[in-house]
Amino acid sequence: MPPIPVDLPLAVDRAAPVSLTVQLGDRLRAAIRGGTLKPGERLPSTRALARQLAVSRTVVTEAYQQLYAEGWIEGRHGSGTYVADLDLSWHGPAAEPAGATRGRPVTRRAGAATAPDGGPLIDLRPGRPWVRDYDEAAWRRAWRQAADLPPGDDPDPYGLPRLREALAVHLRRTRGVPAGPENVMVTRGTGNGLDLLAATVLRSGDRAGVEDPGWRRARTILRARGAAIVPCPVDADGVLVDGLPEDLGLLYTTPAHQYPLGGRLPIARRERLLAWARRSGAFVVEDDYDAEFRYDVAPLPALYGLDPDQVVLLGTLSKSLSPDIGVGWLVASPGLLDAVARTREDLTDRTGGPAQQAVTVLLERGDLDRHLRRMRLEYARRRAALVAALGSRVTGDTAGLHVMVGLPEHRVGPLVEAARARGVLLDTTDRHHHGPPGRHGLVIGYGSASLAQVRAGAAILARLLGPGLADGAE
Ligand SMILES: Cc1ncc(COP(=O)(O)O)c(C=O)c1O
Repeated sequence: MPPIPVDLPLAVDRAAPVSLTVQLGDRLRAAIRGGTLKPGERLPSTRALARQLAVSRTVVTEAYQQLYAEGWIEGRHGSGTYVADLDLSWHGPAAEPAGATRGRPVTRRAGAATAPDGGPLIDLRPGRPWVRDYDEAAWRRAWRQAADLPPGDDPDPYGLPRLREALAVHLRRTRGVPAGPENVMVTRGTGNGLDLLAATVLRSGDRAGVEDPGWRRARTILRARGAAIVPCPVDADGVLVDGLPEDLGLLYTTPAHQYPLGGRLPIARRERLLAWARRSGAFVVEDDYDAEFRYDVAPLPALYGLDPDQVVLLGTLSKSLSPDIGVGWLVASPGLLDAVARTREDLTDRTGGPAQQAVTVLLERGDLDRHLRRMRLEYARRRAALVAALGSRVTGDTAGLHVMVGLPEHRVGPLVEAARARGVLLDTTDRHHHGPPGRHGLVIGYGSASLAQVRAGAAILARLLGPGLADGAE
């Protein structure tokens, strides 16, 4: 039995200069955003709501259609209209002006949803890697060997010595990082590493620089540790170094592949960044989240190698293997690592032993290397398909699992909606900004869609973009 529709305390104002459809859409969005309407709740039928508000049924139908296109609500065959299963963390502030395109909702489990034509959705949002093509035999072997060992009773805050050793070798080979095991701590991922570092080196009220636009979770983590967030502008090459404040405790940055714009910090700017860090005493926190995947460009070694005292390198298996494993690393000078380890003990924070054992096996047997080589080829194909379809509009495509397409602001919202109506989910640059967005466009991820889906999605997008939209990109 479908649930009884909710009774909505809604009203529209006939004297207002805004159309009744827009008003109704705004009220419904506000009700969902504010929690009056909850995911899974059934909306009244268009006929019932039209009668309640004394408006024509077309007004309600059009408002529902708009909300459907934006992803706030979904239809279930033959049983009415429901509030979609939303990831509310994508919403931005609750006080966001009604009707704004910022903070567009996203269904939590896009994989389970269907496109309006009944086909599967093509999820071209960034953030998730491809986890289906793994070597099953290697995976089972790694976990079997982990299970052969008895559970430990005294977890080491630095991580398993064998894994620290294997990671040091891996980082030297893949990223040119001049680190030994004494520099490596095994974390649960980038977020965990950043959190531990912030808890160690920042005092409440200290200023922490973050790239703007940049990784939203970095801002959340630093803020939760009491830091005052200082947005630091970026351009197409990465963070702007000239003009960085001299009073930052740390600067969080993504030099290998700026998140989300995709720039690669040039050597000269890297040198200036480190000169700034030495002068000001700030730590540079290098998030190397997807640098294993690089296309058509020579590798630039990690910043860490240029100044191991001033830089803290954070890495993760979340992109190269899966976010489900919960293993990453923090690389720093031994003195700083000791301080982070003390924080970790104080917080009773640790990386699970069996996961560390399994990753050790994957690294030592070369299984992770083989997986990376396979995935590099696969991602290179998907990236090539995107570039072939979208041409010179694509930027930020030299590394990682996402690219960017700059657009004039007024085109972004309608384009996202039109793509969604055709079953293609897209992300926009504006939600990655700390303050008002300074640039606009799409962030297109190819981690979690198959090559065929990327091709199909890119073809739809190319048609929607039309010819010659490279202008007005910024
Ligand atoms: C910029 C950036 N850094 C790091 C990560 C990975 O974080 P974690 O290792 O905590 O899963 C992500 C994943 O979404 C990311 O987008």
